[in-house]
Amino acid sequence: MPDNNRDNTAEDIINFYKTASTDELCKRAASLCESIHGKEIILRGLIEFTNYCSQDCLYCGIRKSNKNAVRYRIDKDEIIKIVSMGYNAGLRTFVLQGGEDPYYTADKICRILEQIKKKTEYKASVTLSIGVKSRKTYRKFREAGADRYLIRFETSDRELYQSIKINSSFEKRIAAIHDIKELGYEAGSGYMTGLPGETEETRINNALLCRKLELDMVGVGPFIPSNNTPLAASPKMPLEYAIRATALLRLLLPKAHIPATTAAGTIDQHGREKMVRAGANILMPNLTPVEVKKHYLLYPDKICLDENANEIIKGLGERMSAIDRKISFSRGSALRLGK
Ligand code: 5AD
Repeated sequence: MPDNNRDNTAEDIINFYKTASTDELCKRAASLCESIHGKEIILRGLIEFTNYCSQDCLYCGIRKSNKNAVRYRIDKDEIIKIVSMGYNAGLRTFVLQGGEDPYYTADKICRILEQIKKKTEYKASVTLSIGVKSRKTYRKFREAGADRYLIRFETSDRELYQSIKINSSFEKRIAAIHDIKELGYEAGSGYMTGLPGETEETRINNALLCRKLELDMVGVGPFIPSNNTPLAASPKMPLEYAIRATALLRLLLPKAHIPATTAAGTIDQHGREKMVRAGANILMPNLTPVEVKKHYLLYPDKICLDENANEIIKGLGERMSAIDRKISFSRGSALRLGK
């Protein structure tokens, strides 16, 4: 496969992936990343505003049936305060993430979106990550100011999907991604690596599905067995799966925004740096207030639990300069939209 050729076919890329060492793969992906995105790593402020969830995904620590989870909600005024603080710290993109919490009706979410837009003088991009909704609801959110939507498909293996996301439909989730794109959102999806029952073929298909969906953002992280869930005793798989996935995604989707995920930083102290070296160009400082952050436990041993936003941003800046990157406060809009 020729160096940095942006027009490689998916087949060329997969053949290279299959034979390349992780080091070779990462080098190729990082150099392609730099040729498009430079050395800048864009920060997106993450606010985990509710951990109530009506879903019962077997892998997730905030699943409905986990009676040990301590539940919380952050109300609208508090969300606006958190966004203002992040905005004053320089952030220009925010992600509102939550469990599928019926308390937050479409109207409530719209009011929050409108206020965030106003408060940030329409200079910040807002991403929602709150699960499958109807097309009508996605349209309402869009009209109220949502710019982007994240909805991971978690695995491209339909049978595996149906066995771990009970009462959820793979087809509906993929249809939701199409709805989002058609409504003019910048669309994000992604998956976990190392799920029980997953194979190397699944991992290749996961990445190919992201390319087929022409995603603007792709998040991938290692599955971490979570206490008090049916998958608690599953084996921990190597971070290398997620590192190789990041590099493969960069080669398949050169323009996409790809985060170095918290899950990677959780199972390896330098997991996020490794992901950046594999072609990731986004970091997501967690702005969730310290008092409740510890309860948004999708998986155990989450990092940065006792740090506030400014400390986190400073720490990320230092970590990035140590690997010859620099943090950026850009809105990080999708490159396909003419930038
Ligand atoms: N390990 C790693 N990632 C997880 N997620 C949920 N549970 C886990 C887990 N146990 C991921 C899912 C979800 C995202 C918000 O967090 O991919 O989409």
